[in-house]
Amino acid sequence: MILGLETSCDETGAALVTQDGEVHANVVASQADLHARYGGVVPEVASRRHLELAAPVLSATLEQGGATLDDVDAVAVTHGPGLIGALLVGLSAAKALAWSRQLPLHPVDHLHGHVASLYLQPEPLEPPFLCLLASGGHTLLLDVRTHAGYDIVGTTLDDAAGEAFDKGARLLGLGYPGGAALDRAASEGDPSAYDFPVARVPGFDFSFSGLKTALLYAVRDLPADELERRRGDLAASYQRAIVRALVERTRAAAEDLRAKRIAVVGGVAANSELRSALADAALAPLALCTDNAAMIASAARFTHAIPFPEYLALDAYASAA
Ligand code: KG4
Ligand code: ZN
Repeated sequence: MILGLETSCDETGAALVTQDGEVHANVVASQADLHARYGGVVPEVASRRHLELAAPVLSATLEQGGATLDDVDAVAVTHGPGLIGALLVGLSAAKALAWSRQLPLHPVDHLHGHVASLYLQPEPLEPPFLCLLASGGHTLLLDVRTHAGYDIVGTTLDDAAGEAFDKGARLLGLGYPGGAALDRAASEGDPSAYDFPVARVPGFDFSFSGLKTALLYAVRDLPADELERRRGDLAASYQRAIVRALVERTRAAAEDLRAKRIAVVGGVAANSELRSALADAALAPLALCTDNAAMIASAARFTHAIPFPEYLALDAYASAA
């Protein structure tokens, strides 16, 4: 049994996953409400909240799995990329748990974790496949050939897709985090009402900053009551442009790499329009799209563990570079 911990951003997660990918427990405590009033995640506030939530989330996870720490054979934890203070809370907790019980520790890369959300039961996906990873912090096209890793074939040149959703939602007065709210607002609007640009940069990279500016200009000129009336149309047209950019690039890369299978993971994989536009792809289960620890424990099944007690000096990293 692998105990996974995830604290890279504003979700405190713990999970129990077996070596063959069965999820026995998966608990996520979101801090979204805490950060909503600031319109985004405040790193220091996130770190302190992780500290308060780590122990109760762990207890809830053991209870959900009908397990005790005696059942845990290894600990897995996200050690980057993410908010450095937030990561250090999870990493310290993981080291303490592993060390106190003389267990091995698996450091897991958060992005590998998102991909590994596809390797869990009941329908584990087998590589090779081309993976679109679209989250609040990243937009990547990954050539996945083994369970243990991937090659990056495309990335965003500016904002991440989730960031584009969040910034758009903010401009439309839909609160934070706005992806899901924008998705809902879009379902009541006309996606062809506005002609927002779909950036086509060379290769398999993405760009979303021009789109965000186009929405800003469209919103800026509208009186408040008019914005209220056109909110659905604006959301639907804006979402259509993001989804088009994601789908076009993903299909082009799949063709170029002769990938037989496409997969989609990350918070934006929860988007309803993206899910129907890529209905033929392997889509991460809804509960595993946004940050969680089951995907971290899943990734650990395919990485080497650091034996007790060699991990005590292990550090976290904020960005992959
Ligand atoms: O993977 P995730 O939980 O965190 C990161 O690793 O960044 O992704 C969070 C992102 C946020 O930007 C959120 O707005 C977006 O996923 N998101 C959505 C939807 N649900 C969450 N974006 C579009 N449509 C959704 N339904
Ligand atoms: Zn994530």
